[in-house]
Amino acid sequence: MNESSSSSSQAMGTIDVDQAFIQEPEHRPSLSTIEGQGIPVIDLSPVTSNNPSLSSIDALVKEIGSACKEWGFFQVTNHGVPLSLRRNLLEASKSFFAQSLQDKKKVSRDETSASGYYDTEHTKNVRDWKEVFDFLAKEPTLFPLTSDEHDDRILHWTNKNPQYPPHFRDILKEYIKEMEKLSYKLLELIALSLGLESKRFEEFFGDQTSFVRLNYYPPCPYSHLALGVGPHKDSGALTILAQDDVGGLQVKRKTHDQEWINVEPIPHAYIINLADIIQVWSNGAYESVEHRVIVNSEKERFSIPYFLFPAHDTKVKPLKELIHEDNPPKYRPYRSGKFLLKRFEGNFQKHREENLQIHHFKIA
Ligand code: OGA
Ligand code: NI
Repeated sequence: MNESSSSSSQAMGTIDVDQAFIQEPEHRPSLSTIEGQGIPVIDLSPVTSNNPSLSSIDALVKEIGSACKEWGFFQVTNHGVPLSLRRNLLEASKSFFAQSLQDKKKVSRDETSASGYYDTEHTKNVRDWKEVFDFLAKEPTLFPLTSDEHDDRILHWTNKNPQYPPHFRDILKEYIKEMEKLSYKLLELIALSLGLESKRFEEFFGDQTSFVRLNYYPPCPYSHLALGVGPHKDSGALTILAQDDVGGLQVKRKTHDQEWINVEPIPHAYIINLADIIQVWSNGAYESVEHRVIVNSEKERFSIPYFLFPAHDTKVKPLKELIHEDNPPKYRPYRSGKFLLKRFEGNFQKHREENLQIHHFKIA
């Protein structure tokens, strides 16, 4: 990585270990991998082909429903996103991160917007072994100025636009359009699987605060001690992730043993994971699932998540259609933007207390 602020002293023949990246022993990646059934792979052609049959859509909805319940993670094929676009974005991302730190810092993220480059993210108070470039889906993206519930001031966030590589912005814009299309399809399928109207979720996404992230995980000389991203749950509605062929993403299996399972790279597939807001909307019927990224000692890795978030002022709470006497609300309402801002505040520095998490809104 680029900077090392708290390196331990270096002995002859050993590597210089920056303590900021070192995970507690219980979070360090285990060297043995679990064999067994992976996360479901779901063919989306019933909703991406021209003449779908109703019965094939029904079957797809059932498949999505069980994947959401049992795993909260699945991969999709025949998703309709052009492969050439994904390739172009991956190439652009590689060119961007290959620049000098000085050049990358020309588009550093700062307090004026959530867009830009940075390499200082902390997940659960340990620094991630990665570099990141974030780009907002909507311009401007409206967002609260502070996380204070009583502060109504709003910021208009805009994107940082790197000059290099050429056409970076155009490719990102085009990619975002495709992610938006795919996310609406997924939301419809998820709504139907919960017994809701297919367009039930659409109203929340008019002024959405979604963003696409380019992740770069450099090779790590102490990959047994650090993580690319520490264990976490995503805080939006859902995430659509493209990973390259290196591998490293792991999901905590929900069933019995809570083991970390590798998410095997499938060429051209997208990985879908449910995030905190779907958990609250579904009143816990579907849960966001913990995941993390292992780093590689030799290979660099690239991934591209699209984080789908509703408008900042969306009051996130269990949907009324799913609430009844035997199923009272399990979560207190919260504003999407205020929650995210609190989370961001925790991501940039080491805090002593735990970052804000969705379980803090759970009704006991
Ligand atoms: C994330 C994440 C996984 C990956 O950025 O939230 O979980 O494979 N990334 O990069
Ligand atoms: Ni994640």
